[in-house]
Amino acid sequence: MILKLPMKTILSLANPADVETECLVVVALDQAAPKNGPHKNSAKDKPEISLATSDAAIKDAAKDVIASGEIAGKLAETNLLHKPAKLKAKRLLVIGGGKAKTFTSVELRKLAGTAARFLKPKGIRSFAFVAPEGVLTDSDAVKSIIEGAFVGNFDPDTYKSDRKDQQIDALTVVARGDQARLQQALDEGRIIGESQNFTRELVNEPGNRMTPTMLAERARKMAEEVGLKCEVFGPDKIKELKMGAFWSVAQGSDEPPALIVLRYEPAGAPEKPVLGLVGKGVTFDTGGISIKPADGMEKMKYDMAGGAAMIGAMRGIALLKPKVKVTAIICATENMPSGKAQKPGDVQIAMSGKSIEIINTDAEGRLVLADGLYYARQLGCTHLIDAATLTGAVVVALGYVNAGVFASDDKMYERFTKALAKAGEKFWRMPLDEEYKESIRSGIADIINSGGRWGGAITAAMFLKEFAEDTPWMHLDIAGTAWTEENKPWMAKGPSGIAVRSLVEFARDFAE
Ligand code: BES
Ligand code: MN
Ligand code: ZN
Repeated sequence: MILKLPMKTILSLANPADVETECLVVVALDQAAPKNGPHKNSAKDKPEISLATSDAAIKDAAKDVIASGEIAGKLAETNLLHKPAKLKAKRLLVIGGGKAKTFTSVELRKLAGTAARFLKPKGIRSFAFVAPEGVLTDSDAVKSIIEGAFVGNFDPDTYKSDRKDQQIDALTVVARGDQARLQQALDEGRIIGESQNFTRELVNEPGNRMTPTMLAERARKMAEEVGLKCEVFGPDKIKELKMGAFWSVAQGSDEPPALIVLRYEPAGAPEKPVLGLVGKGVTFDTGGISIKPADGMEKMKYDMAGGAAMIGAMRGIALLKPKVKVTAIICATENMPSGKAQKPGDVQIAMSGKSIEIINTDAEGRLVLADGLYYARQLGCTHLIDAATLTGAVVVALGYVNAGVFASDDKMYERFTKALAKAGEKFWRMPLDEEYKESIRSGIADIINSGGRWGGAITAAMFLKEFAEDTPWMHLDIAGTAWTEENKPWMAKGPSGIAVRSLVEFARDFAE
C-alpha cells in the first residue's frame, strides 16, 4: 500500500500572474440571467462568460478561448491551456462555475474538487486556485476551496495493487485580503476537509478490516493525536451498564462489541451545555436472524458511517477548539445470525428500563442507539445529536440527495440549519408527530423495534425519541447519503463523509 502524505495547503497573496505553479485555476462564470419563463432558447440565454478575477494577465491569457465560444461556463466544465502568455504558471485551467447569480460556496467546493480530480490523473501534483472575486467573502472562498480540494483528492482504491500514486501534494490558494484572516480560513478548511476524509477512510474499510475493536483502535489513535479523552468498553462493561438493547445486537457475533466514548472538555468551557454525539457503529449488518438478501449485502460494511461521522467530527472539534463540551458515544458491533443471536419475538430490556419486543432483528441500529442516547444523558449531555444509516425508508423518501433530519427541538433545528448553510450539506426535515407512535406499540412490551413499512424512517425516529425523552435531540438518518454509487467530477464514488462538516460547524456555533 502506498502511504499518502497529507496535502499541503499554502496561502498566497501574490498577483495570480506571478504565481509559479504547474497549473493556475481560474473560475469562469456565466453572467447571463438565469433561465426562467417560456423563452428558454432565446438568444438571451447565450452564455456571457467572464472570469472571476480582476487580474488583467489572466484575462488576457484566456481571451482567445473565451472568444472562440468553446466555453459554455457550465458547472465543472474544464478547459486547459498550456504556456499561457504573461503568466508564470505552466498551465491555466479555466473551470466553469455555472451562472454567476447562483454561485455559492457549494459550487466553489465542487470546483476545487473538480480541479484536483481533473489534474491528478495527468500526473500534476500541485496547483494554485485563484479565489473568485466578487461572489463570496474572501475567507469563505478560501475555506471552501480548501474543503472542496480535500474532498476531491480522496480516492477509495486502498487495496488495488496497481493503485497509482495519484494525488495532489500541495495546493496554493491565491487570494486578496487580510493575511491573518485568510490564513485562519485556510487552516479551518484544512481541519474540516481532513476530518471528513478521515471519516471516509473509516467507512471505506470492509467489515473484516473494520471490526468494532479496530474502529475503537482508530478512534483511540486519533484521540491521542488531537488530545481527546478516549475510553473503550467491551462486553463486560456493556452488560454491567445493563445496555440490554445494545447487547442484544452484539450477542450474536463472535467479534466483541465496543462502546467508544470520546470527550472534548476544553479549559474555560462552561459546565453546560454539553453536546452529545451518538453514532451507530454497526461494522457489518447482515440483518441477523431476519437476514438480508445476498444481493447488495456487501454494502452493509458502511453501516458504521454514523459512528465514523461522529469520530471525524470530534477530530475537527478537537482541532478547532470551540469553547463547549462535547461527548461522543459510538456503539460499535456487528449484526450477525448465529446460535447466540437474538430471535424475532425476543423481549429485551434497554438501559433506560424500557422493554422492547424485537420483531425484526434487522432493525438493529435503533437498538444500539437507544442505549447510546440514554447513556449520553447519564454522562451529562444536555443536547443530543445521533447519526445513523438507520433505514432504507429514508432512501425511499429522500433518495440519494438529501439526508433526513428529525428534531424534537425547533431552536436546535434552527441552529442546525445555520450549520448546514456553512457546511454546504443537504438535510431535509422530517416529521415526528405523536400519531406515529401508534406504529411502535407492542402487545407484550413497552415498544416494538419495527413500525413496519410505511413511514419507516419516521417510526424509527419515534423509537429513538423514546430514549432521548425530553432532552433536546436531533436524529440524522444518512442511509441514502453516506455512500455514493457514482463518480462525480468533484468527488469519487464511495464513502461521502456526510454530516462531518455540519456537525463541526454546529459545535462551533453552539459554543457561542
Ligand atoms: N442498515 C440498515 C439500513 C440501511 C439501508 C442502510 C440501506 C443503508 C442502506 C438498517 O439496519 C436496516 O436494516 N433497516 C431496516 C429496518 C426494517 C427492518 C424495519 C430497513 O430499512 O429495511
Ligand atoms: Mn439492519
Ligand atoms: Zn443497520
